[in-house]
Amino acid sequence: MSALPQVAQAVSPADLVWRPLDVASVERILPIEQQVYSHPWTRGNFIDSIAAGHKGAVGLLNDDVVCYWVAMTVLDEVHLLNVAVAREHWGQGLGQAAMAHLLAQARAAGADQVWLEVRVSNARAIALYARLGFEPMGLRRAYYPLDPHRREDARLMRHLLRPT
Ligand SMILES: CC(C)(COP(=O)(O)OP(=O)(O)OC[C@H]1O[C@@H](n2cnc3c(N)ncnc32)[C@H](O)[C@@H]1OP(=O)(O)O)[C@@H](O)C(=O)NCCC(=O)NCCS
Repeated sequence: MSALPQVAQAVSPADLVWRPLDVASVERILPIEQQVYSHPWTRGNFIDSIAAGHKGAVGLLNDDVVCYWVAMTVLDEVHLLNVAVAREHWGQGLGQAAMAHLLAQARAAGADQVWLEVRVSNARAIALYARLGFEPMGLRRAYYPLDPHRREDARLMRHLLRPT
């Protein structure tokens, strides 16, 4: 038996196959959710979100679920609720691909802008959003749970899909 460490195979965002988020896919995204978030959504959170009509997509590579996003549309605004990439595939452009997929879907649906909140400590996600053209629009104080005693601010960001 080889003692080599397990290293994730190099992947290309161009090989991603996207499927709409549905109830059947929740079981496949939950392990990623629990792996990458300090305060993950529960199965019920995903089911409730789908039942509420929120849209999402699941990215597959060789039939393995590797990333996903969930968003809510209110009139001409899309609000990102969740985006994640399996930990072993971070830094391979899948987060950027997931956000590009969301932006393309929002544009195709006729939305004018996409909004999101992100933990102020989440430098990786903030850098990704900024690179994709999201602009800082202020803070939501104490928006996220941090530990049993403290909460963390959210940075609010907006991406304009058409000039205002
Ligand atoms: C945020 C997340 C989706 C990014 O996914 P990803 O597949 O790693 O993203 P990408 O590979 O497309 O891009 C990440 C970029 O951030 C850069 N980066 C890495 N660490 C960084 C840091 N500490 N600060 C700033 N940038 C960083 C990487 O170098 C990469 O840039 P590059 O394309 O120039 O190499 C992923 O880390 C994740 O699932 N995090 C947990 C869930 C989460 O926080 N979601 C956002 C909630 S608002």
